[in-house]
Amino acid sequence: MMMDLLRRFRPQSPSTEASGGTRLGPVWDFHCHLLPAVDDGLRSLEETRAAIAGLRALGYQGAVLTPHIYPGVYDNNPDQLRDVFRALRQEIEGEFRLHLAAEYFADATLFTAMEREDILYLELGSQKIVLVEFPTLMPTPEGVDVLLQLHRAGYQPVLAHVERYRYVQLEQSIWLPRLERSGAWLQCDIGSLAGQYGPHPQAFARALLDQALPMLWGTDLHRVAQLERYVEPGLAVLAKSGHHINAVLEALAA
Ligand SMILES: [Fe+2]
Repeated sequence: MMMDLLRRFRPQSPSTEASGGTRLGPVWDFHCHLLPAVDDGLRSLEETRAAIAGLRALGYQGAVLTPHIYPGVYDNNPDQLRDVFRALRQEIEGEFRLHLAAEYFADATLFTAMEREDILYLELGSQKIVLVEFPTLMPTPEGVDVLLQLHRAGYQPVLAHVERYRYVQLEQSIWLPRLERSGAWLQCDIGSLAGQYGPHPQAFARALLDQALPMLWGTDLHRVAQLERYVEPGLAVLAKSGHHINAVLEALAA
């Protein structure tokens, strides 16, 4: 049962030839808060430029920006975020490749957004990728239902930083099959591998990595200082694992 589950979640990595060499590190970041001054992420264009320089130094060629859409906390909406994104893209002028998605908090407002087809997603071939986060300490009734409904509506949901949810850590044998049935892909934060969120997320992220379960890894970058302190050592753990990270995003380069 567990082996079947692991096989179904395991990403299909392209061959090293198809991906252009023996590189195993991520080219694309999936999940970061680089869009300036729209949430708790980077606070200015200057900070965003510094973050992009840092990401490039680590080998990244591009990023999928995922600003929060969290009603009552970060009241962003797709149109406003697209405007800020367009302005940032003009400033960056091709130095670094950027795509826009969002990090949605899983509450009932997402059902309304689905009805209106007003969802900010990453277009990846024919797939519409939507990043969703749960609360950290207690599950909500809407949580898994949001993933299921998105999947049924033709989106590909991705659960953000699965390793950080306390209830998932404590009841993995219940939660991992439940998430698998929802159709969601799993995303982990690279910094978790280096202890950014403490020992429990670190241990869980390392266990998930050993099983090659997460389909996507992200910096979840909010501050430039995270890069040196957590992302760089986390990337070293990923490189040691031998897994080809974020291979699915290489379709973005096409
Ligand atoms: Fe985030």
